[in-house]
Amino acid sequence: MQTKYMSLDEFTIQQLRMVPGGTGELSRLLRDIGLASKRINVEVNKAGLQDILGDMGVKNVQGEEVKKLDDFANNQLIYVLKNGMSCAGICSEEEENIQIFDDELSNKSKYVVLFDPLDGSSNIDTNISIGTIFSIFRRVTELGKPCTIEDFLQPGSQQIAAGYIVYGSSTMLVYATRLGVNGFTLDPPIGEYCLSHPDIQCPADGKIFSVNGGYYRQYDQGVQKYIDLLQNKTKADGGPLTQRFTGSMVADLHRTLIKGGIFMYPLTTDNPKGKLRLMYECNPFGYITEMAGGKAESGSGKILDIHPTSLHQRTPIFIGSKNMVEECLSYVSS
Ligand code: AHG
Ligand code: MN
Ligand code: MN
Ligand code: MN
Repeated sequence: MQTKYMSLDEFTIQQLRMVPGGTGELSRLLRDIGLASKRINVEVNKAGLQDILGDMGVKNVQGEEVKKLDDFANNQLIYVLKNGMSCAGICSEEEENIQIFDDELSNKSKYVVLFDPLDGSSNIDTNISIGTIFSIFRRVTELGKPCTIEDFLQPGSQQIAAGYIVYGSSTMLVYATRLGVNGFTLDPPIGEYCLSHPDIQCPADGKIFSVNGGYYRQYDQGVQKYIDLLQNKTKADGGPLTQRFTGSMVADLHRTLIKGGIFMYPLTTDNPKGKLRLMYECNPFGYITEMAGGKAESGSGKILDIHPTSLHQRTPIFIGSKNMVEECLSYVSS
């Protein structure tokens, strides 16, 4: 029997053959993250039937209410990465500090992983697509010793891989390395991610823009002018455009990657440093989008060039189709 779709494992092994001296550690790491995401997917699919909806009754380091599914997803990811042998430590949107695994195998691992265990979690209770986002860096400290904060506070341009899982009408895992961006759809009967979207390229132009229009009056003048421009495009200049904003960055950026468009989360008066987190949201999506030919900017430079000074720092972001982001920068650059 001929197998039509290559599984994630088969694909990463095939890619390994293209990298001289590859050890397979990254393949194992992706498999571990894939496993955690399948467990999260099962719970997300049962949400509503079990007592997994709603709040934990505590706030996280970001000052947000922690949902039960945020906590479940966070624990699953930590569990698989700690029990695997390809990760020296993690950092999560839901944890105040890094977790250093510090055992003999983990200390020998080349990689650290940062993640947003559940993105768009305010949408859980209403059955809108949500996701998981991850970012992988090669350690800069000595192998054989426990990892340190230095391994995590690297600019996004140093990422080795980044990806996301979208728990949507189907469940997909998309990841990027310098070899390209590939998408895998979960085939439920066999429980495997199978290559369904090879070599994803973000179209250079698009017809959709994604921004929370409810905050319009909180944006600065340049952003307001750019939104006005988008809303007033006529047929002659490529319009009219469509506006879409789900409140799940993963869902909005998955669409932007496939169909083209621009996603913006600018500064607001309520969030004067931006809302989205550099390490768990903007860096991984910046890397994925740029590897797919798109662009990711903060308004004062490239997202991937930001040198982080703290784990939970935030940044404004303008990301998506190259030409749209370039046009946007002529209005919003500082
Ligand atoms: P998270 O659920 O991981 O905290 O992230 C939510 C983020 C992001 O996914 C989304 O684009 C944004 O928050 C929406 O925020 P607003 O509702 O303020 O627009
Ligand atoms: Mn959150
Ligand atoms: Mn998020
Ligand atoms: Mn989250």
